[in-house]
Amino acid sequence: MNPTVYYIEGDGIGPEVWKAARPVIDAAVEKTYADGRRLEWKELLAGEKAYEATGAYLPEETLETLKTANLAMKGPLTTPVGKGFRSLNVTLRQTLDLYACIRPVRYFQGIESPVKHPEKVDMVVFRENTEDVYAGIEYSAGSAEAARLIAFLREELGAEVDPSSGVGIKPICAWRSKRLVRKAIRYALDNGRKSVTLVHKGNIMKFTEGAFMQWGYELASEEFGDRTIPESAGEDAGDRVLINDRIADAMFQEALIRPEQYDIIATTNLNGDYLSDALAAQVGGLGLAPGVNMSDKLAFYEPTHGTAPTIAGQDKANPGSLILSGAMLLAHVGWTEAAERIHKAVDTVIGNKTVTVDLAGQIQGARTVGCTEFGELLQVQL
Ligand code: NAI
Repeated sequence: MNPTVYYIEGDGIGPEVWKAARPVIDAAVEKTYADGRRLEWKELLAGEKAYEATGAYLPEETLETLKTANLAMKGPLTTPVGKGFRSLNVTLRQTLDLYACIRPVRYFQGIESPVKHPEKVDMVVFRENTEDVYAGIEYSAGSAEAARLIAFLREELGAEVDPSSGVGIKPICAWRSKRLVRKAIRYALDNGRKSVTLVHKGNIMKFTEGAFMQWGYELASEEFGDRTIPESAGEDAGDRVLINDRIADAMFQEALIRPEQYDIIATTNLNGDYLSDALAAQVGGLGLAPGVNMSDKLAFYEPTHGTAPTIAGQDKANPGSLILSGAMLLAHVGWTEAAERIHKAVDTVIGNKTVTVDLAGQIQGARTVGCTEFGELLQVQL
């Protein structure tokens, strides 16, 4: 009835966006349901706040608790600059095996967009989070490692590689590709979505990107054969989810020209990185982009922006991305009415042209409000 949500405040603008966001999320639940249900928030320490309290940026206790958790939410965390310091975000993703990065992209009326019909975009990007370029296997030009690897490639495999190159390796395997596509198809089925598009660069990288596509189709037919239909079948999908694929560069064109034909995107790491940012920019909404990183156990919600150090502590930050991440969490636990209430309130407040400074530049005649006031205005509209 009252799910526990572990939360990390985060650095920079983290504390102020939380202060504005949490009351909105809680009020949406309270106003929607008369049965007293609510989220049970429990704070975990990470980042600078953790360092000050415990001497560690990511205390063991935080990690251990997250390993047992089903729901969590975090603000942005600084990556302290320094040799050997692993990004906290990367550590969290790897330790907790948060293999699917999920970003919904939709338009909010009134925001200036670089395209004519931003309202036609309503997609959810499922990006693989653990392999491809995120495997981090890369050696700089001139290093001993690069020299050894290049020698191996040239001498053992007959590959033509310039000895002065930097080199990177892009591993992509079947089970990791399949678990990502599985999540995307399940989401499509659970949310009444029409299609899942496998986005890849398989025309050039046949055995990594091309294989991702092939494994995606395999998974769809093996596990969801009766509820999905590949586009190649040429049949009317009816109430089944259509599975198709697009080459990554063509997908960028499609997203601009025919966005209404696309729904759920499942893709490899680097493609997903480009595509989710491009789609967010297309709707003018980088400042309003929510996200979640998921394992098979934990759904870990976070805004997609960073700590915005230059505006931190000035009540200028836009809490919208964190609030919409909260709406995603509510929908995930089945409280879709409360999630919709938040979306409607965001629509109204932006429609009234009362926005934080980052959005004010994108809306003609807008009145700039602070982080706190933006949260208060949302609460009034809930
Ligand atoms: P950033 O997202 O913090 O800032 C980029 C630009 O967007 C800045 O002009 C900033 O003022 C603005 N901005 C960001 N969020 C905003 C908001 N909610 N409202 C209004 N304006 C906003 O990215 P940057 O500068 O590359 O990174 C700063 C720090 O954040 C770094 O330490 C980085 O490692 C960390 N970071 C953490 C992330 C996470 O925890 N998931 C994600 C991205 C960056």
